[in-house]
Amino acid sequence: MPDVENPRLGRAKARLGSSQGGLFAFVAPRWLLLYPNARLPGSWRHWSGTGSRMQIERYDGDREALLPLFALADDSHTQISRYVEQGEVLVAREGGEIVGHAQIIDTGDTGAFELKSIAVTQARQGEGLGRLLVAAAITRCRERGGQRLIVSTASCDIGNLRFYQLYGFRMSRIVRDAFGLSTGYPEGMLVDGITLRDQVVFEYDLSAD
Ligand SMILES: CC(C)(COP(=O)(O)OP(=O)(O)OC[C@H]1O[C@@H](n2cnc3c(N)ncnc32)[C@H](O)[C@@H]1OP(=O)(O)O)[C@@H](O)C(=O)NCCC(=O)NCCS
Repeated sequence: MPDVENPRLGRAKARLGSSQGGLFAFVAPRWLLLYPNARLPGSWRHWSGTGSRMQIERYDGDREALLPLFALADDSHTQISRYVEQGEVLVAREGGEIVGHAQIIDTGDTGAFELKSIAVTQARQGEGLGRLLVAAAITRCRERGGQRLIVSTASCDIGNLRFYQLYGFRMSRIVRDAFGLSTGYPEGMLVDGITLRDQVVFEYDLSAD
């Protein structure tokens, strides 16, 4: 097992198939969600660009244009190619620039959706956009009658484990050896110094307040 850590993996990413208050107070025509700065909670004080407006909206364009974002969230191009065209994608857009995405797919189980891919461009991470995207995905799944939202991440990705639990996701199961050569991930990859190997599946109860 190589002991060289992949710096690109300083945080979370690997995934495979499988709060809240005022933050979620939105909904607009044609699924356009508008977030004026004034509505950002206090913890987002560092929001950049006074007067700027961030929109979260459904993306109906060419998904290939979003591949760099998908690649931030998943190190396996093999896996990405299997799901990139699936489901619905929301994007965070500031002016003409897309700075984040969230992909929601229908799992096939009644009422169960999966947040299959989520990322914010590296330059804009830590500004609260991930939080907005998770909130938008939750709202969207509720609109579609969802009962639960699933998301999975690597057990070694401490940052992502924190991120999802901050927003009310609860651990539901562990898939051992989900990440490896057979699923399209290089052997011996390290995240936060821990070998990428197992997967944690989280669930968010959409029926809860
Ligand atoms: C994970 C990701 C989407 C979060 O988006 P973001 O815009 O950076 O997150 P936010 O600014 O909304 O952060 C919200 C909270 O989560 C925390 N958080 C987010 N990413 C974190 C990380 N890697 N480590 C620790 N905490 C993290 C923030 O510190 C913040 O907590 P705070 O309110 O206590 O300060 C983003 O970091 C990203 O794109 N990462 C690369 C792709 C990826 O890993 N996708 C998920 C695959 S499972």
